[in-house]
Amino acid sequence: MNQIQLIIEALKNIKTVGTITFSSKALVKKMIEPVDFDTAKCIVELGAGNACITKGLLKKMGKDTQLLSFEINERFYKLMKEIGDSRLHPIHDSAEHLEAYLDQFGFEYADYVVSALPLVWFTDELNEKILRAVQKRLKPGGTFIQLSYKKNTYKKFEHYFGKVNIRFCLWNFPPGFVFACPQSTMVEASKVESIATVEGKMI
Ligand SMILES: C[S@@+](CC[C@H](N)C(=O)[O-])C[C@H]1O[C@@H](n2cnc3c(N)ncnc32)[C@H](O)[C@@H]1O
Repeated sequence: MNQIQLIIEALKNIKTVGTITFSSKALVKKMIEPVDFDTAKCIVELGAGNACITKGLLKKMGKDTQLLSFEINERFYKLMKEIGDSRLHPIHDSAEHLEAYLDQFGFEYADYVVSALPLVWFTDELNEKILRAVQKRLKPGGTFIQLSYKKNTYKKFEHYFGKVNIRFCLWNFPPGFVFACPQSTMVEASKVESIATVEGKMI
């Protein structure tokens, strides 16, 4: 698929894609920065789209790390399949079913969940299903990483995210925010007050 076809596909499915542009190299770098590739055994990606983050992850992953990438759009899913890397498991299903696939692939937990899902466009019910599943199946010590185009989005989801470290990427259209949420505070999110930091500074 060329750039124009990608944009047309995104436009046709704007409610589920959430944007007509895809992450730049700089944003992909920010999204995968929190991942410790030396220790990760299982990485889950939610909302692969044009597979820009998928490819960024594969480049850095060791040979024993597995990547489960979810994408509901059939054309984007096919793009992922064309990558043909044995470490990549493209999944044509909705992110809310991630637990069933972790079971199927024999993983109790995901070390990292990297999500570019347009959560703000989803119903509360769908967000609840997805984020509760992430909270449940993220490995202790792991991190949930979520892309957003608005900084304040973390407030809407703070009862799921817990403590959020926010990274900013100017070199993207539109500029992006990357929320990194450690598993420990996600699990406690319903009990603790959320504390957000931008690049380590409290806000
Ligand atoms: C904003 S795009 C991100 C694409 C790419 N990862 C990037 O960073 O540019 C979001 C993607 O999530 C997919 N998506 C939307 N709802 C989904 C769901 N419930 N489960 C899995 N993927 C979903 C859309 O089809 C779209 O490709």
